[in-house]
Parts: sequence; structure tokens; C-alpha cells
Amino acid sequence: MDDRIISSEANENEISLEQSLRPQTLKQYIGQDQVKKSLEIFIEAARQRKETLDHVLLYGPPGLGKTTLAVIIANEMGVNIRTTSGPAIERPGDLAAILTALEPGDVLFIDEIHRLPRTIEEVLYPAMEDFCLDIIIGKGPSARSVRLDLPPFTLVGATTRAGSISAPLRDRFGVLSRLEYYKEEHLKNIVLRTADLFDTRIDDLSAAEIARRARGTPRIANRLLRRVRDFAQVKGNGEIDLELARKSLELLQVDPLGLDHIDHKLLKGIIEKFRGGPVGLDTIAASIGEESETIEDVYEPYLLQIGFLQRTPRGRMVTELVYRHFGMEPPTP
Ligand code: ADE
Repeated sequence: MDDRIISSEANENEISLEQSLRPQTLKQYIGQDQVKKSLEIFIEAARQRKETLDHVLLYGPPGLGKTTLAVIIANEMGVNIRTTSGPAIERPGDLAAILTALEPGDVLFIDEIHRLPRTIEEVLYPAMEDFCLDIIIGKGPSARSVRLDLPPFTLVGATTRAGSISAPLRDRFGVLSRLEYYKEEHLKNIVLRTADLFDTRIDDLSAAEIARRARGTPRIANRLLRRVRDFAQVKGNGEIDLELARKSLELLQVDPLGLDHIDHKLLKGIIEKFRGGPVGLDTIAASIGEESETIEDVYEPYLLQIGFLQRTPRGRMVTELVYRHFGMEPPTP
């Protein structure tokens, strides 16, 4: 993934910066009110009973704060968090090593849990259900299974693709929380909070302008803020006002709806090469030189959300809104 402004992936420099900006408690966490309210209750109930929190599955588009919530869950429960990801666990032994190193009550966070190999999932089932591991020792007829007790723990799984998780794995989570795109008001408050942490002065209107172009995604809002702040430092007096915010966002090629040149290429590609669709995902991806998976996970969810794209059984179609956005005449039916 390159350093495009819209990319919902975080690069390595951003990961440490992001971690330092992250809210640490539910109280500091802005937005996702529904998820927050339920987690508050489940956490409080588990604490009162002096039990571990039930396993939690967080799902939704990238950049909406799944990792942040996992850290907050651990903080609120007063336990440690161990972090790994689906693709990082290649063999059952990798998972066994992680599980046996947990302290009682710990949170184990598995990002991209939909990418766990099936053989590993099977090790996870008894670990989640009964806090034990079934290990096979030896090979062939002399092989035998040994049961190992584990400390009780909370698995927090995160995924952008809830549909790709197998039913048996999904069924073992007691809490399933779907993260939604953030409201502009919440994103504005996130921008103001981050600017405060940066000691950068910004007015309400500029924070709202950044929020409007952030595709409902805090990671993108904070990234836009950092770039606008660079602009303010080099071209202005360090303070962010509306004119400066708009100019820098234009320079970043982020349009008033937060769409970037890849979104434009995608939407215009469907209009110009496929008469507005329907067209299959792989066909569009090949025609604009992007990965199907990136389009499906990063670009498409927001375009569907704002009603610019429709998924039909025969493929993707642009809507009238897209023609209007580009100042084009929609085709007559
Ligand atoms: N920074 C990134 N996401 C945030 C959120 N949801 N609340 C507060 N600060 C954030």
C-alpha cells in the first residue's frame, strides 16, 4: 500500500504516532456510541463478577478504531494486551506459544482474524470455549492428544470482513460489535482533540472541513490534519484557518466529499469504459490497475455508503449521484 492520503492502512511511522494519539479509556473515545454503551455494560458486569470479559469480535471497514477499542478494553479491565494478527500465525505451535504465555485475564487481540488458517482456528475453539489446548504429541499410531490448561483470557478479534469468518469461529464470540463510519460531528471532535495533543491551533470551521473530507474515518481525519498542519507551519504562521485548510486539502487532491484520485479513476472508469455498469469487480480492478481486494476493502465500502456505487448480481454500477458529482449528464434510461 502506498502513502495515498485515503489509504486506510497505517504505515510504520504512523503506527507509533497513532498509538500515542489513541484514546486510552472509553470516556476519551469519541463516537461509536452504540458500541461504547454496550461495551461499558459488559465490562462493568465482568468486573463486578471478577470474571474475564467474554470474547469480543469487532468488525467494520479499516481505520474506524478496532485496535484502539481492543487497547481500551484491556485498560478498562485492568489487564495486559497481547497483539497478533491472522496472517502472522502460520502453525498451530505459533498460537500455542502465544496462548501459553498469557497471564490470567489478559486480552489477546488478533487483527485480521478472517485470515487465520483453518488448522489454527481449530486450535482456537477449545481455547476460547474451555480455556484449554489439545496438543498432539508424536506421529502415526503412537500419536496421542494431551490437554493443557490455559489461563482464562479474552479474545478480541478484528476483521474488515465479517462474512469471511467461519460460522463456528463467529459463534464462539459472546459480543459482536459492528463499527460504523463516524458522523461528521464526531470526526470534528476527534480532529480538535488530536490538534490539541499536537498543540496546534485550529478553528471549528477548519476542523469541520477536515472532518467532512475524511470519509467517516478517524485514521484519515488525523492524517489529513497532519498534512494541513505541515502546510500551516511552512506556508502560514502554524495556525489552521479555513482558507489554509481548503487550500491544503486541494493540494492533497482530496475533493469536497473526501474522494481521491483512485476513487475518481474507479468511478470514471466504470462510466467511460463500462457505460456506468454493471461490471464485475475483477474487471474494473484490472482496467484501472488496482487490486480487487483493495477496491473491495478500502474504496468500495465508503462509495456504497454514500450511494455512489451499487452492488447488483451482475456487478457494480455507478448511480446518478456520481454523474452529478462530476458535472456530467446522467444517461437517460
Ligand atoms: N483518535 C482516533 N480515533 C479516535 C476516537 N474514536 N476518539 C478519540 N480520539 C480518536
